Amino acid sequence: MSDKVAVFDTTLRDGEQAAGTRLGSREKLMIARQLAQLKVDVIEAGYPASSPEDFEAVQLVSHEIQGPSICALSRAVPDDINACGKALAKAKRPRIHTGIGASDIHIAGKFQDERYGRTLAEKKVKILEMAVDAVKLARQYADDVEFYAEDAGRADPAYLFEMVQATIDAGATVVNIPDTTGYTVPEQYGCLIRSIREKVPNSARATISVHCHDDLGMAVANSLAGILSGARQVEGTINGIGERAGNAALEEIIMALRTRGDYFGLHTDIDTRELFRTSRLVSDLLGIQVPPNKAVVGANAFSHSSGIHVDGFLKERETYEIMRPDHVGIVESRVVLTARTGRHGLRDRLKKLGYTLSPPELNQAYQRFLAVADKKQEVFDEDLIAILHDEIHPLPEIYQLEYLQIYSGTSAIPTATVRLRVKDETRVGAAIGDGPVDATCKAIAQVTRTAAKLQRYDIRAVTSGTEALGEVTVQLEESGRKVVGRGASTDVIEASARAFLDGLNKLANLPAK
Ligand code: KIV
Ligand code: ZN
Repeated sequence: MSDKVAVFDTTLRDGEQAAGTRLGSREKLMIARQLAQLKVDVIEAGYPASSPEDFEAVQLVSHEIQGPSICALSRAVPDDINACGKALAKAKRPRIHTGIGASDIHIAGKFQDERYGRTLAEKKVKILEMAVDAVKLARQYADDVEFYAEDAGRADPAYLFEMVQATIDAGATVVNIPDTTGYTVPEQYGCLIRSIREKVPNSARATISVHCHDDLGMAVANSLAGILSGARQVEGTINGIGERAGNAALEEIIMALRTRGDYFGLHTDIDTRELFRTSRLVSDLLGIQVPPNKAVVGANAFSHSSGIHVDGFLKERETYEIMRPDHVGIVESRVVLTARTGRHGLRDRLKKLGYTLSPPELNQAYQRFLAVADKKQEVFDEDLIAILHDEIHPLPEIYQLEYLQIYSGTSAIPTATVRLRVKDETRVGAAIGDGPVDATCKAIAQVTRTAAKLQRYDIRAVTSGTEALGEVTVQLEESGRKVVGRGASTDVIEASARAFLDGLNKLANLPAK
């Protein structure tokens, strides 16, 4: 049996599905490019039958991304599978991921209509038939077909074994055993995978895949138990985002396999130095902040604070550090650049951080860097990344901030005046609010005449100290369309204005509903 574990990333499908915000196809492409840099084996780019936007995103990713297999999800129904086949037509290595409920709870609950049979036993026969037909149809579009037995974690094992055997016979190359509801515990899930390998006669003809959710906080442990029992593909998302409590966090599984290679005796092909950058990009584009104590990619994952720990760490790193920050791509923070640094210095530093910019992008980033360096004595790597994610927009900017003035204080009525460039014209507006952020958003809303509602507002400091860059993430909603906007500045009111405008620019670039 191979000692390689294939990594299947579903950030753009299971992750995005639950984020409360839909990514545009260009944003999906940005994440897919980074996943290819990370060297994942499979990118699940979306569910084409779910919306024209998802169809377009899968098409775009299939066309642009080289390296990983590009996968699309479907239910076990012909229309969904045909949509996958069409959306994946340009992919070099297409994979269709099709499947159906396997547990009695799913079968009785989701297939109540009598056309699926009257009794549970009749329905189970029909579902098995649909599973087999789906795999056969998918094989007409792709040589690589993955079958998922939804809610396998709660399924009757005998029925699950029958389903796995039938779908492998029908041509499935990978069989996914999802713990859809995060119900299992590691020993039990490990046993389930082992028994599939031992009891399903043709199981060696397909790769067994693990796909775990985190409802009881065990998604990573369950995935690793499945891998120990012979699964050779692991599915999950970056930062563990996903339905309800999320999916298994891929960065944790990957670093567990690497750090504890002595125990697992297995490897992935992942370039782990890309993990931190990938985590940051996903967090920025989806507007979901990474908790500071998050394993592997959290801001505190490599910092030591208690006296005993710091003392030990300074004498010998290994006393309190099992992974090195540079192994996940965290370059140790130090003062990098000042206002006197030229364009070349900035370009070199960005290149070391893994960002290669076109000349106009570099110019834009440099102007912004100068403005930040002017206000802040020390510019750190984290500041540069925040500036970059703020400045380099994949979409045309309809609204641009030219000027912002705030009047605020303990006994003043907060008032904001803004001047915006809106396409070719300049517009000015002013508003009062409950606080300076509220006044700023109201002034921008007045100038842009938007009907978008602010649904979420988060703020964080990029580095420490009162002069740190503040990074604001907002979620805006307009006629059922949701977007995330973000902005960074040493002035948190300006960061808020930038985040609000970024969201409005994204809404303006979305197709109308
Ligand atoms: O959790 C799940 O069962 C899924 C399937 C669609 C693979 O995401
Ligand atoms: Zn899932």
